Amino acid sequence: MEKSEVFIIEGLAGQRSLSGEIEVGGAKNEVLKILASSILFDDEVSISAVPQIEDVFRMMEILTSLGITISKEEGEAVYHLITSGLSNSLIPPEISKKLRASIVLTGPLLSRLGEVSFPYPGGCVIGKRPIDLFLDGYKQMGATVREDNGMFYVSAPDKKLQGAEIFFKNQSVTATETFMMAAVLAQGKTVLKNCALEPEIVSLGDFLISAGAQISGLGTPTIEIIGGGLLSGKGKVHKTMPDRIEAGSFILLGALAAKDLKITNCEPNHLDSLLNLLRQSGVNFSLGPNFVRVFGNENRKFQAVDIKTHEYPGFPTDLQAPMSIFLTQTVGQSFVFETIYENRLNYLEALERFGSKARILDSHRAIIDGPTAFLGKEIESPDLRAGLAYVIAAIVAKGQSVVHNVYYIDRGYERVDERFRAIGVGIKRM
Ligand code: EPU
Repeated sequence: MEKSEVFIIEGLAGQRSLSGEIEVGGAKNEVLKILASSILFDDEVSISAVPQIEDVFRMMEILTSLGITISKEEGEAVYHLITSGLSNSLIPPEISKKLRASIVLTGPLLSRLGEVSFPYPGGCVIGKRPIDLFLDGYKQMGATVREDNGMFYVSAPDKKLQGAEIFFKNQSVTATETFMMAAVLAQGKTVLKNCALEPEIVSLGDFLISAGAQISGLGTPTIEIIGGGLLSGKGKVHKTMPDRIEAGSFILLGALAAKDLKITNCEPNHLDSLLNLLRQSGVNFSLGPNFVRVFGNENRKFQAVDIKTHEYPGFPTDLQAPMSIFLTQTVGQSFVFETIYENRLNYLEALERFGSKARILDSHRAIIDGPTAFLGKEIESPDLRAGLAYVIAAIVAKGQSVVHNVYYIDRGYERVDERFRAIGVGIKRM
């Protein structure tokens, strides 16, 4: 872990001077699941536009340890995965503890090999991340679950999961994806109820269908899967969808610090909740089929708005931190209601050092008063989303800032320093 790397950022003191184009990369939270789904294939899975980020590298390390062969095309973000050597059903604890998304491997592994063992998965420090939906769901599909010394051992009778009707008590992105994948090789029909609706889930489902899976109801709360045989890549290359969280973060940066910034390779219709609030706040932008152009240069004042995080198509929890930076610069009082995670407002405390006026009311709610002029400071990124939010705060601030723990930012954003430099940000990696 490159803990020692830092970003040194020269702030713009509130000026809106950035300009040019910034391209959005492939979606972390889609590609991690597409990679995991390779376990369901009997031939090759090929994926392009794979973001070169730490979480993707960790996922590939796990897949390799399971016996999957991964090759990368020279100079391209194109990967090929061959699963014929898949034999190992142990998800290695050291890597898995760093990557919450490793939980999605349990479904396809259990379904293909009839057993899986894994530790409690790690990830960001953003709140309780239970796995009860997974354990309960596997039991409903006929598996037995044993816990021993921090490890979970799940096995299906006769190595075959049975189709089942599963109601998720909470809408969960990874649980929806995991059980969709598990059901693809299970016996009979599975009906998943109260599913999450995120576009990454729909994209994963469409990919599985294109490879032979029988899935209906994608993008609705009820998904039905008829189990069948192994899937086939048929020589096709799946292109990773654009990352809507990265796009949203760049749009917020544009609103705060750009005179004219075009955010390319994005899907504006995945960002309705954000764009609607920004319009309400007074941000001037235009939309194209695959770009958003933000004009921040009129020195116009933005108005405070309230946000409430919600499952898709509501306001994404992953954009709550960068949006809160925006709210520190708007006129009036904003109310931030984080409904998904209970520790995802803690970053607001350290933000006070920049000069923000934010009050954390409880683990889910905060009030932000603005606008406040920011002064550059030294700060540690606590997780990837808050880490990028601090980078945006540092760009808005007056003077120099140092952001520590760049590893967290690299987990989710590819070479963000280089890309920000190209639009006029004074940022160095040391
Ligand atoms: N939940 C349970 N039991 C479970 C699983 C989840 O009660 O077994 C609850 C959680 O406590 C939470 C809610 O369900 O209240 C939603 O959590 P979810 O399972 O949807 O989160 P996740 O699937 O672990 C994914 C993303 C997160 C993103 C959330 C919400 C991946 C790998 N991660 O997490 O992304 O915040 O959905 O949209 O897809 C990030 O990228 O920074 C990130 C944290």
